[in-house]
Amino acid sequence: MTAKSNAIKEQSWQIGNSGLDYSMPGVPNHRGGLHPLTIIRREIDEVFLSMGFEIAEGPDIEDEFHNFDALNTPADHPSRNLADTFYMEGGKLLRTQTSTVQIRVMESFKPPIRIISPGRCYRNDKPDPSHSPVFHQVEALVVDKGISMSDLKDTLQSFVAIMFGGRVRSRIRPHFFPFTEPSAEMDISCVVCGGSGCRVCKQSGWLEMGGAGMVDPNVFDTLGIDSELYTGFAFGLGIERIAMLKYNIPDMRILFENDLRMLRQFRGEGQ
Ligand code: PHE
Repeated sequence: MTAKSNAIKEQSWQIGNSGLDYSMPGVPNHRGGLHPLTIIRREIDEVFLSMGFEIAEGPDIEDEFHNFDALNTPADHPSRNLADTFYMEGGKLLRTQTSTVQIRVMESFKPPIRIISPGRCYRNDKPDPSHSPVFHQVEALVVDKGISMSDLKDTLQSFVAIMFGGRVRSRIRPHFFPFTEPSAEMDISCVVCGGSGCRVCKQSGWLEMGGAGMVDPNVFDTLGIDSELYTGFAFGLGIERIAMLKYNIPDMRILFENDLRMLRQFRGEGQ
């Protein structure tokens, strides 16, 4: 016998006396997974990064200047109410929208600007199938010379096509936001019925995706950006809404209750 086989023999004798049974199956490794909102947020990031956007961040705890004043929101606007906004001590508040990051980016950078900002928002809403006091938005802001509403439509349509597939259409409808002029609401054709009308789209054929518009010149003026030279568009998409549509989740609260039976369905996905 060779020295090697002697050594092995020696070793196996040791194993045999160690009291351990090395042939026993191992303890299964319970692998975690990403939360569906994280999976969708990362997917959204990827789509916009591929379109040349950069990712910007801002704080969840904000002040009235970034959440309201600089966004051209009048002092008596209903969104400032205690019934809508969580105020904290010292004049701070929990941001009600990711539009705060538009302001922070324009404070720090000169155009051209092309950013998205995904993050948490907070509103004093009772939880129900389509509301949660904590939710997520992704803001987009593009500022440059010659930016127009058609750039907004084009960006939205490109995003929708990548996210939901080429057959899904988008449209914008007139609306009002204090910080955009003109303002619009964005819809996509129903991803469930294709637009013919069903329970999910309440027979309308369309699903609301969020708010949008051209940056109001007042916002540029507050931040010292020349509103004669630059124009821009902005929009805010609801991340829960996109996750619910993509994963066929009927109630927003399911995304926050974190029942393991739900989370396990996403084990290993998106990593
Ligand atoms: N911040 C708005 C909201 O939360 C959405 C929006 C974003 C509107 C950007 C216009 C431009 O409802």
